[in-house]
Amino acid sequence: TTLACEYRPGLEGVPVTQSSISFVDGQRGILEYRGIPIEKLAAKSSFLEVAYLLIWGVLPTASELQAFEHEITYHRRVKYRIRDMMKCFPESGHPMDALQASAAALGLFYSRRALDDPAYIRAAVVRLLAKIPTMVAAFQHIRKGNDPVQPRDDQNYAANFLYMLRERVPHSLEARALDVCLTLHAEHTINASTFAAMVTASTLTDPYGVVASAVGTLAGPLHGGANEDVMQMIEQIGAVAQVEPYVEKLLEQKARIPGFGHRVYKVKDPRATILQDLAKELFAEFGADDYYDIAVEIERVVVRHLGHKGIYPNVDFYSGLVYRKLGVPNDLFTPVFAIARVAGWLAHWKEQLNHNRIFRPTQIYIGGHDLAYTDIEERV
Ligand code: SDX
Repeated sequence: TTLACEYRPGLEGVPVTQSSISFVDGQRGILEYRGIPIEKLAAKSSFLEVAYLLIWGVLPTASELQAFEHEITYHRRVKYRIRDMMKCFPESGHPMDALQASAAALGLFYSRRALDDPAYIRAAVVRLLAKIPTMVAAFQHIRKGNDPVQPRDDQNYAANFLYMLRERVPHSLEARALDVCLTLHAEHTINASTFAAMVTASTLTDPYGVVASAVGTLAGPLHGGANEDVMQMIEQIGAVAQVEPYVEKLLEQKARIPGFGHRVYKVKDPRATILQDLAKELFAEFGADDYYDIAVEIERVVVRHLGHKGIYPNVDFYSGLVYRKLGVPNDLFTPVFAIARVAGWLAHWKEQLNHNRIFRPTQIYIGGHDLAYTDIEERV
């Protein structure tokens, strides 16, 4: 068989699409959304403004943003049948599994696939962006045997998630911090969950199944699940003085240290730098604890050992410190990542529809040929 190109494990370095949604320079630590540096968007835009930019390719005017926000507000409530479905989920289940089930279940209500209809696309974008935070917060209460907290119309997108989670209106700095986190996690070229979304979308299924595929992919510890593992590591270490022995033991075991390393970034992830500053700001405002110092010490020790291999903190390393200070429980860190990344998944789903071709790669076959069949009586 003549192969078009050689086999690349994990498709490392293999372009699978042409896209103008985001750009990463892994050597210089650059991330741009639609050509705009992430630092500018994190400082000046809201997450919904960034989601609009990613999906429709332009920053919305004030009236376009207001209309978009109004539509999101209108579609925010979680469907009572999905709420009742969640009541059957085991309380000990992981919220990422509850989110994957709920996102797929949305498709039961809207699975008409008018993919060539801009109104259908906009409606699917609005519903998924609007309902996913509400479903994440709802499962948190349902698994404790309580009713979900209804969103408030006087709270913006990020503030509402914190309100639905903690049942109290957040401080403006808390809401702003979460909003920046959502912007930072919204999109990152062809990462595993976005690629899963693209492969699923390429069969022209509905966007709810596309998002459900992506949620299942993001849940893994090598991808979005790392942020929860980082917090567990910090809690296990417990003190700055314990960092060096703990990390050196992990290195001896050739373990992958959560929150470090990246397929593309060979320098510190620019998002980690912004999140680190955000964590510092929150600790200064709401009281510091040694988790921040432990994290900084972990970075120092890991980079001393692995920096020469291009292993530095990635987006998952400091995000948990911010979420914890915002009162988000550890097992909701990855669902919060998913709330943001829905924007990127939908942007690639929409972009791909313009030049869709079903993903169907090939393989290098290494098995046998025309082998004998052994009847079951003779099998040992
Ligand atoms: C995200 O792709 C994206 O853009 C993802 C993301 C996004 O926004 O969508 O940025 C979000 O998922 C961030 C990554 C979160 N994951 C983790 O923090 C888990 C720990 N990280 C590693 O598992 C790893 O770095 C990956 C999965 C992130 C990247 O894996 P690669 O590119 O396949 O690299 P690799 O596993 O082949 O490792 C290359 C070398 C190996 O050393 P050698 O065997 O060649 O000597 O680097 C070493 C690895 O041992 N290495 C690590 C390490 N990551 C890589 N060693 C220790 N700790 C680590 N974390």
